[in-house]
Amino acid sequence: AVSATPQQQNTAAPQAAASTPQKLHILFGSHTGNSEGLAENLATLAKEKGIETEVSDMASFKGRNLKKIDNLAVIVSTHGLGEPPVQAEDLYNFIHSKKAPDLSHMKFSVLALGDSSYVDFCQTGKDFDIALEKLGAQRIGPRQDCDVDYEEDAEAWQDSFLNALAQSSSQGAEAEAPVEVAVPKAAAKFSRKNPFEATILEKIELNGRGSSKETIHLELDLEGSGLTYEPGDALGVYGANSEYLIGEVLKATKLSGNEQVETHQGKKNLLEALTYDYELTPLSKLSITKYAELTESKKLKEILSDNKEIQDYLLGRDVLDLIQEEPYELKPDELISVLRKNTPRMYSIASSQQAVEDEVHLLVSVVRYEAFGRNKEGHCSTTLADRLKVDDKVKVFVDKNSRFKLPQDPEVPVIMVGPGTGVAPFRAFMQHKEVAENKGKSWLFFGDRNFRTDFLYQTEWQQYLNEGVLTKADVAFSRDQEEKQYVQHRMLENGKELYDWLEQGAHFYVCGDATSMAKDVDNALREIIQQQGGVTPEKAEEYIKYLQVSKRYQTDIY
Ligand code: 2AM
Repeated sequence: AVSATPQQQNTAAPQAAASTPQKLHILFGSHTGNSEGLAENLATLAKEKGIETEVSDMASFKGRNLKKIDNLAVIVSTHGLGEPPVQAEDLYNFIHSKKAPDLSHMKFSVLALGDSSYVDFCQTGKDFDIALEKLGAQRIGPRQDCDVDYEEDAEAWQDSFLNALAQSSSQGAEAEAPVEVAVPKAAAKFSRKNPFEATILEKIELNGRGSSKETIHLELDLEGSGLTYEPGDALGVYGANSEYLIGEVLKATKLSGNEQVETHQGKKNLLEALTYDYELTPLSKLSITKYAELTESKKLKEILSDNKEIQDYLLGRDVLDLIQEEPYELKPDELISVLRKNTPRMYSIASSQQAVEDEVHLLVSVVRYEAFGRNKEGHCSTTLADRLKVDDKVKVFVDKNSRFKLPQDPEVPVIMVGPGTGVAPFRAFMQHKEVAENKGKSWLFFGDRNFRTDFLYQTEWQQYLNEGVLTKADVAFSRDQEEKQYVQHRMLENGKELYDWLEQGAHFYVCGDATSMAKDVDNALREIIQQQGGVTPEKAEEYIKYLQVSKRYQTDIY
């Protein structure tokens, strides 16, 4: 049995002079399951305090029902360049529209999820926070903005929000006896905060000689970790910085690396902290802000005053570029204060545990490019490609994604669109379908640059086709001919059949590039529905919304 942590005991402490507040409504909106997970967690904590809760997905929540809510917690992530995730769009538009009701009876607080490497960090959460206030609602706890590494901040917000809620409802109410508290569930042993050290069993370069791409297949050993995953889940992986980059940063700051520094992981020597605990690449807006404060650089302050300029500045630069362009003799602790905490990268898992048991497989696209006179390397992908070899260990944890799951009913057909490394979860789907002898039809759309060098897992797809585990596959190799050929072109060519599958109840999955591919695939899907269904763009939009709300259109895009 696992004993309660100090925090869990805190949760159980009776609330002095606090009565049980009215019902708490928790609204979440996100692409991945993160905000859903947090919403459920908050509901559990609230229930332990005797607060009645209701959790709703923004995707299916009617804006006018906001009027009926007295206590509201909003948990929402920001998508792409400061936009709300699709699931939150309708509600987002509603609260910013003329139809939005007066909410002066409401108490609320917002938990905003985001990624500080983007300029519009947590923008959707910020917008919700402001809009609710404008509608008259009373903010009873400050908004909390969380970075990719959100757990600690989210926990702190949950505690303080629930306390604020209890206090606000105790005003004018009689103090009640503390509520009986349920014993919290034992936490999983390995997690983001406490990652498992998995051994690398296998590492294979998948692209053929002469390819313009570098994609590796990795097999890791989870034996003894107790970690479990399902097709559609992701693996969080912690990278480490390269000796070369650390050396250059030390040179530029005239530090030796032997200095002692205070890190979020306790006292360490600087070299170790720079290797494992902080990121040197990419550069984030927060780093520039900190650095601008220290250096009092006019140039940086000017850049920071304009969103477009920061966006341009961040492109291709890393911490070393920043220090070299605006030299300043940082003290060891100042250097640490500028850096972003080492943040795990999420890779969609490419295997099914039912098929590979203690292993977990990943498909990693290795990021390398040249910018500002230096070769730049993806933090985590080059850790895996260059700095770790077979038998080395890497820190990992499982990140559940309830938003990317095979249909519950094994007979339901699945359509999978996964160009490049986007194909990873579909390999997991196929492995699962094979082991589970799952009878539903399946259709893969795969694309990459060149047939000869970049057909990832080609022989496996062939075998799945032969066995009938995979019903149909269509491929698009973009650079084998003059005109670019993409997965959406294959979809459009097969519009009739694709529409038939949808009408038969197929689930439609897209994984991979978010900036252009996912949008183009979405447009192709709309076009197919319009053409084949003979409907207006508005009706096609409704059809798509319906697919999304009924969880038949699922995306895992990055
Ligand atoms: P490209 O690099 O030749 O443009 C996997 O990365 C594959 O996805 C590549 O063939 C890549 O083509 C392709 N790709 C790039 N942009 C895309 C888009 N907007 N829609 C679909 N596929 C795209």
